[in-house]
Amino acid sequence: MIRGRADVQTSLWPAEESLAGNYFVSTYPPFSTWTEDQLGQVRRVLGQPPPPGDAPPLGLYVHVPFCVKRCDYCYYLSYAGKPTRDVDAYIDGLLRELDTFARTPALARRRLDFVYFGGGTPSLLTPLQLNRLLGGLQAVMSWTEVREVTFECAPQSVTPERLAVLREHGVTRISLGVQQLDDDVLRRSGRVHLTADVERAWLAIRSADFPIVNVDLIVGLPGETEASLDAGLERVIAMQPESVTIYQLEIPQNTPLFRHWRDGETPVEPADWPTKRARLDRAFARLEQRGYVVRSAYAAVRDPARHAFVYQDAQYAGADLLGIGVSSFSYIAGVHFQNVADLERYLARLSGGDLPLQRACALSWQERLIREFVLQLKLGAAGAARFRHRFGVDVLEYFAEPLSRFAAAGLLNTDEGGVTLTREGLLCVDRLLPAFYLDRHRSVRYT
Ligand SMILES: C[S@@+](CC[C@H](N)C(=O)[O-])C[C@H]1O[C@@H](n2cnc3c(N)ncnc32)[C@H](O)[C@@H]1O
Ligand code: SF4
Repeated sequence: MIRGRADVQTSLWPAEESLAGNYFVSTYPPFSTWTEDQLGQVRRVLGQPPPPGDAPPLGLYVHVPFCVKRCDYCYYLSYAGKPTRDVDAYIDGLLRELDTFARTPALARRRLDFVYFGGGTPSLLTPLQLNRLLGGLQAVMSWTEVREVTFECAPQSVTPERLAVLREHGVTRISLGVQQLDDDVLRRSGRVHLTADVERAWLAIRSADFPIVNVDLIVGLPGETEASLDAGLERVIAMQPESVTIYQLEIPQNTPLFRHWRDGETPVEPADWPTKRARLDRAFARLEQRGYVVRSAYAAVRDPARHAFVYQDAQYAGADLLGIGVSSFSYIAGVHFQNVADLERYLARLSGGDLPLQRACALSWQERLIREFVLQLKLGAAGAARFRHRFGVDVLEYFAEPLSRFAAAGLLNTDEGGVTLTREGLLCVDRLLPAFYLDRHRSVRYT
C-alpha cells in the first residue's frame, strides 16, 4: 500500500509526501516540460560563438551506462551485463559525439573547466577501455587546465590497474559508491558489493593518492536500523574520506524496490521521510562532531577550503555543461537539452552523422533566475548580492511569499545578505523548491 505521511510540515508543501516517487531536483524547469519542438533552439545556440571574454565556465559530463547488475533502488539509466563489444561501440559513440559538439561555433574555442564521469558504473571499463576513452576525449577537448575531474567507482570494480590509468589521465576526485557498511543491508538492496569489497577498494584508492575521495552513502535502505547506520558511519569516518555524500533513499516507480513494496513482497515497510531526515540529521551531527563541515543538503567535507566539488558548485552557479552519452543532459547558453534514453537509438543517430538529441528547453530570463535560485538553495544559502549582480533582482522581494511561509515554519532565515536554510530546511530542501517555480511548473511530473 502506498501511503502519504502526515507530519508537521506537510501543510506547507504542494502535495502529500508519498513514500514513492522522485523528489531530488537536478535542475529547473522539470524535464517533463522539455520538448522536441524546442530542439531548433539547440541548433541556434550551438551555431553562435560565445560573446568575447564573457563565457561562463564549461563542464563536461560523460555518462557510462553499464553495471554488473541493477541495484533494486536505482533510477539511473544503465544496462547490466553488456558484452565488451557493446561497451567498445559505446566508447566510439562518446568520442564521436564529443567531436561533433567540439566543432560547433559555440564550443570550438572553449576550454573545459571541470569533467565528471558518472553512471552506471564508469569503473567497470577495462584499463584498455579507460585509456581509449579518457585519452580520446582529451584529444578532442583538452583538459590540461581543468579544476577537477571526478570519476564514479563502485567498490568491486576498483583495481590498482584501473586507478593507475585514471591517475595518469588527470582524475582528481574519486567518488566511491559505498551506500552502507552492513552486509545485510547491502544484500537486501541488491548491491553486488559487500563491506569487504569496500575495505579492499579503499586501500587501493588511498595507495593511488587522489587529491579528493568522496564516499556516497544512502539513508533509508531496506533492513537499515539506527544502530547499523551509526556503526557504518563510524567506519566511514575512520576511513577519513575528504567528502561524505549522503542521499535520502528515493523509491521511484520504475525500480524493483517499488514493485516489491507495492506487491507486498518486502518484509518491512521502507523508512518514511521523517525517519530518513532524522537519520540524515544524526549523521550530519556526527560528522560535524568529528570535524567535518556540512557544505550542501547532501554532503559534508573535511576542509571546505580544499575539498570543493567544482562540478556541483559550478553547475549550481549557472555554468555551461555539455553532457554526452545516452540520456545525458546539457545546459549551454541558457538552453537545456537531453539525449535519447535508449542505447541503440543513441548509437544509430551518431552513426547517421546526427547529434542524438531528444528534447530541449530554452529558458526565459525568469526561468534562469529561478533555476539558479533553487540550485543555490541546495547548497544551503542564496546570497542577495549574487542575484542583484547577475539578474538585477532583489530575491527577498521576488520570492517574498514562499520565503515568508518557510521562514515562519523555521525552515529558513532571511536578512539583507540573502536566504539561509536552517538545518531543518536543508534536510528537506528538495521538497521546498517547487514553491519557487512558475505556477505552470509546480504540479507537473518532474521527469
Ligand atoms: C550513479 S550512482 C554511483 C556509482 C556506482 N554506480 C555505485 O552505485 O556505486 C550515483 C549515486 O546515486 C545514489 N543513488 C542511486 N539511486 C538512488 C536512490 N534511489 N535514492 C537515493 N540515492 C540514490 C547512490 O548513492 C549512488 O552512489
Ligand atoms: S546504484 Fe550504481 S551500481 Fe547500482 S544500478 Fe545504479 S548505477 Fe548501477
